[in-house]
Amino acid sequence: MDLGIAGRRAIVCASSRGLGRACAQALAEAGCDVVINGRSRETVEAAVSDVRKATGATVTGVVADVSDAAGQAMLFAACPEPDILINNNSGPPLRDFRELTRPQMLDGIVANMVTAIELTQKVIDPMVRRKFGRIVNITSGAVKMPSAGLDLSSGARAGLTAFLAGVARTVAADNVTINFILPGAFETDRLRSALESLAKKQGTGYDAVVAQRLNTIPAKRFGAPTEFGALCAFLCSAQAGFITGQSLLIDGGAYPGTF
Ligand SMILES: NC(=O)c1ccc[n+]([C@@H]2O[C@H](COP(=O)([O-])OP(=O)(O)OC[C@H]3O[C@@H](n4cnc5c(N)ncnc54)[C@H](OP(=O)(O)O)[C@@H]3O)[C@@H](O)[C@H]2O)c1
Repeated sequence: MDLGIAGRRAIVCASSRGLGRACAQALAEAGCDVVINGRSRETVEAAVSDVRKATGATVTGVVADVSDAAGQAMLFAACPEPDILINNNSGPPLRDFRELTRPQMLDGIVANMVTAIELTQKVIDPMVRRKFGRIVNITSGAVKMPSAGLDLSSGARAGLTAFLAGVARTVAADNVTINFILPGAFETDRLRSALESLAKKQGTGYDAVVAQRLNTIPAKRFGAPTEFGALCAFLCSAQAGFITGQSLLIDGGAYPGTF
């Protein structure tokens, strides 16, 4: 399918690895000019070179922390008026909610709620003027399905979802959409390191922890980041202009509800 977005400009936050990177690659395959971002220079440079080589697209790397004002300014210096914004950031570490300090809670809310709102504030009016805009927020299946230890992540991301769901309705008539993708378990560095620390904690070995986790997923496998990237690119497509304010689960059936 031609997604109808060739030549569109996209900022993909936190995209030098994992789900963000898969989104950047899928958008580059659709012909977008893409900004790739991360804090490690080496990883950003490698991702830029790989995506450029694989797609032939115009790809720019921005080494910056997306959570702070200076980092955000660098993203907009590289791409002043994006047509597409993919909000992504690292999630808070797994922790019993009793242990969370106030500064840790505020950091989690800044990383997984405030940052995406700040970036949306900056892109939305030019999108409205141009009568095209696609904002996709990478959140988590934990928004719909609580998971002990991920409470801060679930809370901050649910707050983001509610906040932007209202905003989405105010710009829908201008062909600007705001949606949320809720990943289940995807094969990325983050998932691998979470499973490794669980294996260490349980003393059961990595393979046993993987088997345990796979057992909770009806598809009996982890998601491939390319599957995630493809959904993200579709939500950014010309054809997806009638989908807005929606939270889309992509989790191999792990969420047990009908709706
Ligand atoms: N993978 C899953 O199964 C899964 C499930 C549910 C939710 N999620 C959520 O989805 C998001 C992406 O997960 P992932 O698995 O793709 O993670 P990942 O494999 O750890 O990749 C994270 C990417 O974000 C970059 N990054 C992290 N913090 C950043 C910051 N402050 N500023 C700029 N770049 C930053 C990292 O590069 P640097 O470290 O070099 O900055 C890296 O490129 C996370 O919020 C995660 O909690 C993932």
